[in-house]
Amino acid sequence: MSLYESFLKPLLFRVPAETAHEIGAAFLRAGFAIPPVRSAVASRCARDSPGPVERFGLTFPNPLGVAAGFDKNGKLVRELAALGFGFVEVGTVTLRPQEGNPRPRLFRLPKDLALINRLGFNNEGAEAVAERLSRMDRECVVGVNIGRNKDVENRDAVENYLATFRIVHSVADYIAVNVSSPNTPGLRELQERSALDELLSALSECNAGFETRRPILLKIAPDLDDRQIATVVDAAKRNGIEGIIATNTTISRDGLSTSPEEIERIGDGGLSGRPVCDRSTEVIGKIRKASGGEIPVIGVGGIFTAEDAFAKISAGACLVQAYTGFVYRGPGFAREINRGLQRILNAKGLESIDEAVGIGML
Ligand SMILES: Cc1cc2nc3c(=O)[nH]c(=O)nc-3n(C[C@H](O)[C@H](O)[C@H](O)COP(=O)(O)O)c2cc1C
Repeated sequence: MSLYESFLKPLLFRVPAETAHEIGAAFLRAGFAIPPVRSAVASRCARDSPGPVERFGLTFPNPLGVAAGFDKNGKLVRELAALGFGFVEVGTVTLRPQEGNPRPRLFRLPKDLALINRLGFNNEGAEAVAERLSRMDRECVVGVNIGRNKDVENRDAVENYLATFRIVHSVADYIAVNVSSPNTPGLRELQERSALDELLSALSECNAGFETRRPILLKIAPDLDDRQIATVVDAAKRNGIEGIIATNTTISRDGLSTSPEEIERIGDGGLSGRPVCDRSTEVIGKIRKASGGEIPVIGVGGIFTAEDAFAKISAGACLVQAYTGFVYRGPGFAREINRGLQRILNAKGLESIDEAVGIGML
């Protein structure tokens, strides 16, 4: 067990989950994660990680990213890169700043290695985040995840997304379109055929108007059925979407060890962590099948170990992300996963992550 898990985590897990997140973020910003000798870290990374992954015209230093929601306002990118993550997806960012839902809105389910959140896109707004990212030195790939403001109706969603898209365009290496958070009423209806087509075609057209295009990725829910997955893949292909991020949190509460009374007490929100691991891997496989392997997938949901990450890669993901596993495992998480992935590649006689993508589906 790491120092974090045996000492720091028990302390952090005594305070409310969102406060613990804020304390953790303050630790990171205070320089806790910044290694004293950068070159030493660079050489260590070269040995201990599966190495760079080229996708979407970008070079990801390694295949593991921080999933959206951890760094909603782009304040921790440098620190997260220093912990060994190859990319950070900032956001979800909305056009106007939002407070999000009232607290408490983040809950731990330790028996299930899970979290439930109903944060509701609390963020400082697109202008503030874009301004911050524009001043930052890049040490890893930085995606920006965009969503719609809570007080905007779905019929006006396209304009709302477009305005955010234009603001973050110049500072984002890729832009993730979030239509899958369960905490903004009606948002997930944007995954339905006509709404999705309208949104994606508008964003693609807007993208084409810029001198430098950004890769657009679509982030989907794990709760879609096969028909809905096929619809999403179809819409992504038709509208030139470069990739799919699978998956967001689930609204399902099936198969949990946490008592039903406790689940009832917590209430609404998206469930993340171990309980979504298998379902998200399954969705990755379904996207690969439905797209004939043509749409790159970023796999996310319940990654705690290198084996979890590899399962997603062998189902068809070319990159992976994590949030909840990082919270439970602590600052050594990214290095451990990257080291483990390299070990798995060695054991299987594979040269690179690219060689492993989809091998479980052959
Ligand atoms: C506290 C919390 C906040 C999140 N906020 C966002 C968000 O703002 N936008 C988003 O697309 N996903 C958000 N997510 C979902 C994660 O990015 C990820 O898709 C999901 O948690 C599954 O991965 P995990 O099991 O590794 O946490 C959030 C997850 C958590 C736990």
